[in-house]
Amino acid sequence: MTFFALQDALFSDVAGYSLSASGKAVIGREADPALTYGECTPEAVEHILSVAEAKPGETFYDLGSGTGKMVVFAAFFMPLKKSVGVELIPELHEAAQMVGRRYIEEIQPKLEGDKRNTRLEYRLGDIFEADIHDGDVIVSHCCTCFDDALMQKLSDKLETCKPGARIVTITRGLSSPEFELLSVTPCQMGWGQATANAYIRL
Ligand SMILES: C[S@@+](CC[C@H](N)C(=O)[O-])C[C@H]1O[C@@H](n2cnc3c(N)ncnc32)[C@H](O)[C@@H]1O
Repeated sequence: MTFFALQDALFSDVAGYSLSASGKAVIGREADPALTYGECTPEAVEHILSVAEAKPGETFYDLGSGTGKMVVFAAFFMPLKKSVGVELIPELHEAAQMVGRRYIEEIQPKLEGDKRNTRLEYRLGDIFEADIHDGDVIVSHCCTCFDDALMQKLSDKLETCKPGARIVTITRGLSSPEFELLSVTPCQMGWGQATANAYIRL
């Protein structure tokens, strides 16, 4: 299955940008830059799994998961134990759940081997409250528009990851000595060229 066919089968009728806009209005945060919406591409997720040295059987987290593109693309590329998305905006969370059901019914049965067994999990809530202790690969695309204070909060949160976990932050990097930098590489997102910063939790 091509990337185009995968996106088309799952997301052709999912309007992430307008769901984000209406969802932010409902919670009175339409002008909050921390909730800026933007989407990954399948190529970006393949790249992220590579720089994070993701392995079969691992647990993947997308912190700020929107309509769940990273969650399903990660499961499509790698036979994971579990692929988890955490999203604050109910409208986006509900769309991600719908996409997840589609993926389980229409895509996953056609895949080979252990990719058929990857569990998808969607959590509605704040990434700063999420339990991520079992994560092997943790991605934050949402930190692209975080300010310094939120980056510090994210860094503190990511320190709760287990030693050996790999973390990929998009655009903005981490500076805590608790993380060793593995690589800084270009990464093509739906909204343009970004930077993927990959770390290992010491
Ligand atoms: C740039 S979008 C990325 C969406 C998805 N990860 C992707 O790559 O296609 C960031 C998402 O993070 C969510 N977000 C931002 N801050 C959050 C927080 N504190 N808790 C949960 N979700 C958050 C936003 O609502 C938005 O949907």
